[in-house]
Amino acid sequence: MQQSVAKLFGYVCQWLCVILLGLPVSVIYFILHLQNYVRKLRLQTAKHVDGEVGHFHGGQMVEIRNVSTKEQIDFMTYRSPTYIKQLLFGSLWEFSKLTGSQQSVPLIDDHVLHHVILNSVFCHGLIKGDENSDIEWRLPFTLENYHVFKGFYWDVSEIRLHHNHQLTIVDKTGKIHTQESKTWNLAKAHAQAQLTFFAPGLAHNHVHFVFPSLVSSQVRKMLPPTSVLRQLLDPHTRFTQYINYQALNECQSSKNTGSLIDRIFRPWLSFPISNDDFIGGIQKKCETFYYDNFTLTQELHDELPYHAFLKSYCVIVRKFVEELEPLLKDDYAELFASMNTYLPSLTKHDLVDVITTLIWNCGVVHYSDHHSYLQQFAFKYGCMSMRIPLVQDDHSSSINATAEIPDSMNSDLGARASLFAAEDIYRTRCFLRTFVQYNGNPNLDMSLKCTKYDFTDKAAISSAKSFLEGLTDLDSKLRQRGNAILPLSNIIRSVCF
Ligand SMILES: [Fe+2]
Repeated sequence: MQQSVAKLFGYVCQWLCVILLGLPVSVIYFILHLQNYVRKLRLQTAKHVDGEVGHFHGGQMVEIRNVSTKEQIDFMTYRSPTYIKQLLFGSLWEFSKLTGSQQSVPLIDDHVLHHVILNSVFCHGLIKGDENSDIEWRLPFTLENYHVFKGFYWDVSEIRLHHNHQLTIVDKTGKIHTQESKTWNLAKAHAQAQLTFFAPGLAHNHVHFVFPSLVSSQVRKMLPPTSVLRQLLDPHTRFTQYINYQALNECQSSKNTGSLIDRIFRPWLSFPISNDDFIGGIQKKCETFYYDNFTLTQELHDELPYHAFLKSYCVIVRKFVEELEPLLKDDYAELFASMNTYLPSLTKHDLVDVITTLIWNCGVVHYSDHHSYLQQFAFKYGCMSMRIPLVQDDHSSSINATAEIPDSMNSDLGARASLFAAEDIYRTRCFLRTFVQYNGNPNLDMSLKCTKYDFTDKAAISSAKSFLEGLTDLDSKLRQRGNAILPLSNIIRSVCF
């Protein structure tokens, strides 16, 4: 009875908040729309410029330095309104849930954690265990270079998946926490918070940056709209210049100073780290992947369900590109010449490899990463921050004077209403719904299965038709076998969010 009264009171508070703040938020919404419209008009009348790439922050990594005027106008027309809506009304909705005590996430079950690591974007971070050990997969977090804000903790260094389906968690001092340990729930809560950051902060960087940015800029700069190669790549690189430039330079989603202003007016800033750490992490990850390891795409392991799912789509894309190859050769030579100095790992691959990887990466992997992370994990279990230390070090002992976390505290944690602060969950959800979820525009269908290529060549038109049919057949087969991590109808064809 008491619980239902509290719940009812929560709903009343939530809707009161929506009613009270609805009008001022709507006014800001119209002002921002108007501002977007005026900026667009200014661009339309200004001198149009091409996109430009260059080395990012003086490092090896190449990224967008200037977004072409055409792309800016395109983004402001079709994509910006969706961001404005979520930033305002999405955040208002999450705030109303906070006022109504509706912001909570459960501690993830062991078997769900095991499943989600093998069936989602987290696969990109998995490393095979030693043959002689009982460890099947390791998921290292590589968070050593991040300086977490005071009062926040990311104390786990690795999750291990064992051959007997057991899990263990290694903390940053090297201590191993097993499912039988009294510290298990707290260790798992740290892993849960770190996984929430791991997908947008680390696992997905090579999918988003460098290669897609370089192609999206150069294909428009080097090739005319009549080129079959340009017509092929246009739909899979639309909006990419803008989104990547914004993410790395404007940093609307990550410029968290921890100030009062940010906490009140920018609730989507949920990372408990500075923007410099966040961007530095992306750069380090991309430079290792593309330049030090000289790779263009991640190694796929057939035994991982998520990788097997992605690989099945790669086969269909490759067939499409192979059919078109005679029509692409000459233009590819020109495009390649404009890119290989920026990305030497391209020289290791032929035309079919490069173009297949680009279409598959932007048109399948990117969306699948976002979707699998949100649907299997983040919407239900996501919270970027953890405020209870797992490991006592100089930083945490200044907050908690005890030398060791009492066992009673650890064993109680599973029974607590929430291990995560409601405010942190609220911020995480504002971030997720604005920057990680795909918010479509009803005036523009960006789905992969409805891709329209501007081909005029008859052979190309026929190949495109077979390609889209091939995707539908594959989706049907995957569903029948229970291997469809997500349906084809959901997949978005470019890195546009
Ligand atoms: Fe992304």
